Amino acid sequence: MRLDKYLAGAMQIPRSAARALVARGAVTVDGAVCRKADMPLAGGEAVCADGKPLDREEYVYIMLHKPQGVVSASTDGRDVTVVDLLKGAYPRRKLFPAGRLDKTSTGFVLLTDDGAFAHDILSPRRHVPKTYRVRLDTPATPEMARAFEAGVVLADGQAMRPAGLLPDQADPFWATVELRQGVYHQIKRMFGVLGAGVNALHRTAIGGVELDPALAPGRWRPLTPQELERLRAAAQPRSKKKNL
Ligand code: URA
Repeated sequence: MRLDKYLAGAMQIPRSAARALVARGAVTVDGAVCRKADMPLAGGEAVCADGKPLDREEYVYIMLHKPQGVVSASTDGRDVTVVDLLKGAYPRRKLFPAGRLDKTSTGFVLLTDDGAFAHDILSPRRHVPKTYRVRLDTPATPEMARAFEAGVVLADGQAMRPAGLLPDQADPFWATVELRQGVYHQIKRMFGVLGAGVNALHRTAIGGVELDPALAPGRWRPLTPQELERLRAAAQPRSKKKNL
């Protein structure tokens, strides 16, 4: 990763401010002043700003806007993966997506190397809500919403947990769906049982953290400390949750 990008992420400052720090000679890499904002870091270097060591975070947490056609995996022999989109920014990290979106789906994918965190976010027992915008090939109805609320039984007999479905008032071909579990092709299969096809699916939020509208498809950034805190709170066991 470039030095300015590393500083921006580690210090939660804009890239321009990171470049200004480097330009005034305030940044050292392994003890030597570095004035090249685009210097590549391999990871593991001791970086200091104004004499203060920047703590190397134990884990990495990334918000990514997945475009269509990209697969939710770390590696794939054929398709571009969500981890490929980081373009080697974290060469020493074994990042993976905490939750999958279909190849044709778009939106918020969380990438991390923190296995325990990913487990908590994904566990159906932790009830972390994931929110989607869905475009259907037939209008969403109040009956469908009631079926989602009661728990749809998939064609193979799997009973889904209760889910939220809110058709748009202005155009019921569009709806917002909230899931608290993640089963393969879940939304498409739930609508399929109810006789509706899904034409487009976009994840807008995880655990109440919204996909940053400034991130164009294919772009990413580290989670802010506040976003991470919110996700951790959403992934607490139910008995410990405060008003979530
Ligand atoms: N449900 C689906 O059917 N597809 C997704 O990508 C996510 C949820």
